[in-house]
Amino acid sequence: MEPPIWKIEWSDALSVGIPAIDEDHKRFARLINELNRSIVDRAELAEVRRRLQLIIDDAGQHFAHEERLFKDWMYPDSESHAAIHARIIGKLHSILSNIAYPHHEAQWISAGLQIKAVLIEHILKEDVKYTQSYRIHRESVATHLLRLP
Ligand SMILES: [Fe+2]
Ligand SMILES: [Fe+2]
Repeated sequence: MEPPIWKIEWSDALSVGIPAIDEDHKRFARLINELNRSIVDRAELAEVRRRLQLIIDDAGQHFAHEERLFKDWMYPDSESHAAIHARIIGKLHSILSNIAYPHHEAQWISAGLQIKAVLIEHILKEDVKYTQSYRIHRESVATHLLRLP
């Protein structure tokens, strides 16, 4: 059976309206698409694991980026959001450690789908919650700048 071919297509539905964050999320989507491409192309185990590790590293950097911005925005739910980030990293590590057998197609396909689901769900359910804090912060910076002589 041919593995399912899917691709995350970036659209406004995935945008949180914050350019720096959208850029990070677009990179996520690209790395996930590349992982799935390597699975569809029946890449070597080492290659699939390498691409998964890239996603974990990228997710770690992106989560740290968001958490730095939370301080600037005074986002009230920063702690619970950071705890969710930590859980996602744990989940990605467990997916990586389950990818242990060469050409275990069903396992690899399921890994790709799980990663896609975890990260897209996080953007749509959790990341959208901080947009209001971002907007309030941006407006207060703009107001402050207008007051400058
Ligand atoms: Fe995010
Ligand atoms: Fe997040």
